[in-house]
Amino acid sequence: MTNKEIAELAKTYLMPNYAPPPLAFVEGNGCMLTDADGNEYLDFVAGIATCGVGHGNARLADAICEQAHRIIHTSNLYQIEPQARLAEKLCGLSFAERAFFCNSGAEANEAAIKLTRKWAGGRLADGQRTIVTALKSFHGRTMTTVTATGQEKYQKAFLPLPEGFRYVPFDDIEAMRSAVDDSVCAIMLEPIQGEGGINVPDPDYLPSVRELCDERGILLIFDEVQTGMARTGKWFDYEHEGIEPDIMTLAKSLAGGFPMGACLAKGEAAVAFEPGDHASTFGGNHLASAAALATIGIIEDDGLVENAREMGALLVERFTTMAESNSRVDHIRGRGLLLGLQLADDGARDLQAACFDNGLIVNAIGDSILRLAPPLCVSAEECERAVATIGEGLS
Ligand SMILES: Cc1ncc(COP(=O)(O)O)c(C=O)c1O
Repeated sequence: MTNKEIAELAKTYLMPNYAPPPLAFVEGNGCMLTDADGNEYLDFVAGIATCGVGHGNARLADAICEQAHRIIHTSNLYQIEPQARLAEKLCGLSFAERAFFCNSGAEANEAAIKLTRKWAGGRLADGQRTIVTALKSFHGRTMTTVTATGQEKYQKAFLPLPEGFRYVPFDDIEAMRSAVDDSVCAIMLEPIQGEGGINVPDPDYLPSVRELCDERGILLIFDEVQTGMARTGKWFDYEHEGIEPDIMTLAKSLAGGFPMGACLAKGEAAVAFEPGDHASTFGGNHLASAAALATIGIIEDDGLVENAREMGALLVERFTTMAESNSRVDHIRGRGLLLGLQLADDGARDLQAACFDNGLIVNAIGDSILRLAPPLCVSAEECERAVATIGEGLS
């Protein structure tokens, strides 16, 4: 089928909640994608910061195939060896002591919210159930995670919302202090806001939020669905901040593009769920866990944490130089390979289209920001090519 034929079929039979262009990728190799008409593109979106180890990764594909031939799924009614090994691996890489697995970022955040409320039920005062989140945050599209998301545009068609959330401006510690009263049991934040505009907080902000949580005896939840799994040049973004959360959620790159989410925790929160409290039929099944174990192995063996740091630094340097001579570029922000190119005008969508015409896939988030999140295996040559294409697109 051609791009156009696929788009027509989709338009007839899919619910109209997505509005993609008539463009269907059918093959990928590293950072390159090929569409149904045979055109090639350099991918600086990576399935929305998800295909960390690149497209068509043979080691990941082999691990998925081998596991699929052996056994795909038995449910959590029984022990699952790759799931237990994955939990051990993630706990070894992070602050966490225990893991729960599910199938997406929203589900990981649902789990974190339920875990927090269960933890609070046993330890805090009656009624201490409110979770403070940030304006411009993004935590998912289920009813509870869309409520946690501090953006009215995602909520207003779906009222009434579940209770128990309060919003504050991101990166404003005074606003956070004022919001945390005796009804609050946790603060939930993305350490860098992704969908909200690649907003990196001041270096003091997250350590001060940690302090506040400790003072009040409440939990700190980091949503690392977008920032985790080496995206920002460390395994997890909290490592840049010199602090640890109590709960962290992961998804996107966790299994290299295979659907999987995780909620990790330490301390009393890690053992708050009892049998029957929470579950997922597919969560952490053999296939997803094997994909995640292979993904982690590739990130380790191919040095992708370091590569994310180095390629991110290269891109920041190039775009900082570009901003000095091109009045349309205001600045570049972000960390590792999660970057936002802030334009001085509202031309991000036009720039995205111009890049696309020249074989580069980028993602406009809003009118004036271009998100750059290539696979973690991107090369210096590919980064230079992307910079040149964006430079041309700007003119
Ligand atoms: C920070 C963050 N949390 C949660 C989600 C929701 O993840 P999913 O789409 O896998 O449910 C996203 C998705 O973009 C995200 O960026």
